[in-house]
Amino acid sequence: MRKKIVAGNWKMNTTVAAGKELAKDIVAALGKVPKDVQLIIAPPFTHLAPVADVIKGSAVALSAQNCADKAKGAFTGEVSAEMIAGVGCTYTILGHSERRQYYGETSDTLVAKMALALENGLSPIYCVGEMLSEREAGNHFNVIKAQLEEVLFGLSAEQMAKVVIAYEPVWAIGTGVTATSEQAQEVHAFIRKTLAAKFGDLAKDITILYGGSCKPSNAKELFACPDIDGGLIGGASLKADDFIAIAQSY
Ligand code: 13P
Repeated sequence: MRKKIVAGNWKMNTTVAAGKELAKDIVAALGKVPKDVQLIIAPPFTHLAPVADVIKGSAVALSAQNCADKAKGAFTGEVSAEMIAGVGCTYTILGHSERRQYYGETSDTLVAKMALALENGLSPIYCVGEMLSEREAGNHFNVIKAQLEEVLFGLSAEQMAKVVIAYEPVWAIGTGVTATSEQAQEVHAFIRKTLAAKFGDLAKDITILYGGSCKPSNAKELFACPDIDGGLIGGASLKADDFIAIAQSY
């Protein structure tokens, strides 16, 4: 059985004080969320330890937004998977399109990050998705297939079982334009089929989240699709009410 997940990627938003308030509001509203839905929040690095204190003992899980591609040492400005796990994270987002686009993250770097995240007991939330030009050229399936193959196909089945996938079409992120449920389902089914070719039946148990302008008004239709197991939410995860409403949309 695959997990239902609603994860909030706070990106580079909120102060520590505001982030703690947001986490507190989410914990307070947990009673409204179906028990089988796993909520995850991914605040900035600076917030992880204080937010971990706020959510301690609750059913909300903590995620980082990234981790270093090196284990430790002279890598100024980087934060390792071991450090992230040490403050209570159980997940880390990897390969977000903003990291790929603005910080030159490549599949090679992501292979290293994936290995370190898994070694340190973190479940990676691995993001894939095409740019608008790639979709318009009809090349989106090839782009996504390469993103999956290059970073995940070297994993063992045991490692793959810990990975969550997020499909985030770049043209839908922060734009207010959501993929239609047909477009999203088509790609989610393709992702599952691609994973099945390598990992067999395990693909049925992999959670695949949709991300890209997912909000309370469209979450229900998206989550009703057979291969969409939840959402990776940006903007709407910064308001506790919206985040909780999305989690109520199954
Ligand atoms: P938005 O929900 O703001 O479009 O962001 C999606 C996203 O990038 C989540 O990782």
